[in-house]
Amino acid sequence: MRIYGETKRLTPQQRKELERIYRRRVSPKVLVTPELGRELSQLSRKLNRQLAVLVDRKGRVTHVILGDHDSILIPDLTAWRIGWGSLRGLRCVHTHLSGEEISEEDLTDMVLLRLDAMVVIQVGEDGLPKEVAFAHIVPQEGRRLPWQITVYSHLSQVEEGFDHLIREIEDELRKSQRLFDAQGEGERALLVLPLQGDEVDDEEYLVAELVSLAESAGIEVADVITQRIRKVNPATYLGRGKVRELLMRSLQKGCTMVVFGKELTPVQANAIASLSDLKVLDRTQLILDIFAQRAQSIEGRIQVELAQLRYMLPRLVGRGTAMSKLMGGVGGRGPGETKLEVDRRRVRDRIAHLERRLKAQGKGRRLRRKGRGRRGTPVVSLVGYTNAGKTTLINRLTRSDLKAEDRLFATLDTTSRQRVLPGGTKCVFTDTVGFIRHMPKDLKVAFRATLEELEDASLLLHVVDATSDRWDQEMEVVDSILEELGLNHLERILVFNKIDLLPSGAAELLPPKAVAVSALTGEGIDRLLEEIEERLIVREETKELAGEAVDY
Ligand code: GTP
Repeated sequence: MRIYGETKRLTPQQRKELERIYRRRVSPKVLVTPELGRELSQLSRKLNRQLAVLVDRKGRVTHVILGDHDSILIPDLTAWRIGWGSLRGLRCVHTHLSGEEISEEDLTDMVLLRLDAMVVIQVGEDGLPKEVAFAHIVPQEGRRLPWQITVYSHLSQVEEGFDHLIREIEDELRKSQRLFDAQGEGERALLVLPLQGDEVDDEEYLVAELVSLAESAGIEVADVITQRIRKVNPATYLGRGKVRELLMRSLQKGCTMVVFGKELTPVQANAIASLSDLKVLDRTQLILDIFAQRAQSIEGRIQVELAQLRYMLPRLVGRGTAMSKLMGGVGGRGPGETKLEVDRRRVRDRIAHLERRLKAQGKGRRLRRKGRGRRGTPVVSLVGYTNAGKTTLINRLTRSDLKAEDRLFATLDTTSRQRVLPGGTKCVFTDTVGFIRHMPKDLKVAFRATLEELEDASLLLHVVDATSDRWDQEMEVVDSILEELGLNHLERILVFNKIDLLPSGAAELLPPKAVAVSALTGEGIDRLLEEIEERLIVREETKELAGEAVDY
């Protein structure tokens, strides 16, 4: 029988006394029995250290934990799996030695670990139990979790009915979950952005980038918290206390996940995930998730899933919830079929399987591309740095058609939409994933895979955020990626977006070959459509001419 906590200096006799606690039974109807309370108090005073037990719904003691004089550390409970609609099935009963009231720390533990209840017994100098405080979660709408505290002046006052209370709380939790599901809400996240050194000067820019990434992944951003740090904590990135505070804040804001704006090591990711039941995503996973949504070709999808699995593999150290939380991805979209109950061996098998498919696929693709004619509706693809406004622009460019030909679009992918240009030319607009700086190296292959469709484009619209202080650098990032992909030969129109935000006269300073537009207000859009049509017509004519030349 394991005693948790720092137990090295215990005498065999003390250890035996602690182990004996495991034999206690508590009726499921009561929070804690006077006998258990008295035993904990006496031992705790004798050892001069806090003492805790975790008790399950059947009234069995599952953990005996020894703390120090002022605190207790609840061990990792992630093996005790739970869903949102339930509590952990464990209550924590522990002692306080210096008359401290139920603490912030106690309440944080209760909420983060979703304990059935947190019970604090004050221990008198004589080792007898005094006041008892009992806290439990009170679920509210919007998945918020405030708590309620009841204080009894003595253990004998603790009434029956604890089992009913738990049932009521879980009913409420399930109701709020159903409401949440019915409203069709997706993931809601607190974004945490640690800033180090010079990054502090770029705070606004980096926050905007992270928000844009999260939104691209379909996450509703509840709040962004930036945290200046001097150095990275190897165990939990930010200090453990800070992480707990942030997780708590996320729960209070009704979040379903926390997104870290930096890459977490496997150790950090696991440590943070074990502190609560919230899903934890880091920057790399967020980017991979966006790729997973955007990749359309079979090869692209395989590449992205491979990157996801390779990234997750070293993070899969535990079993159960911690792992499923890390594997989950946004909206439960984890890599492929391996969502829950994955283990390292199965992940490795899947990686091997995907690698084989990729090889076979690569051969097939080369053959297909060779044979594919470039006839049919021309494709206009939007590329650009993240947040440049590609999605807004594609909506603007295709809006009129959307209403008129609803059914047509239902069959197309959300990121590809057809429209008839003012002069009668048909084209398909496709959106692509936003380009970003600091692309984690391992993701480059996956990123390219999501851009494969670009090879079929007749024309690229390179969308630039005219209001960015660094539009020239952002353009360079996009140019160099296109070059790496061997797509430099494609016709391009440079589109400077968001001109509604520019001070008057500033639009004249933009590069002369650029088309200035506002996707938001519609300014410049007609001019852009004309330019697109002109280019497409010229292209068709050139192709026909080339065709005639061959025929002769
Ligand atoms: P990623 O998906 O990250 O690649 O971003 P995106 O390029 O698709 O950008 P998106 O369309 O999501 O726009 C980013 C932000 O810029 C949003 O908040 C838009 O509302 C805003 N935005 C886009 N176009 C304009 C514009 O012309 N004017 C103004 N004022 N805001 C715009």
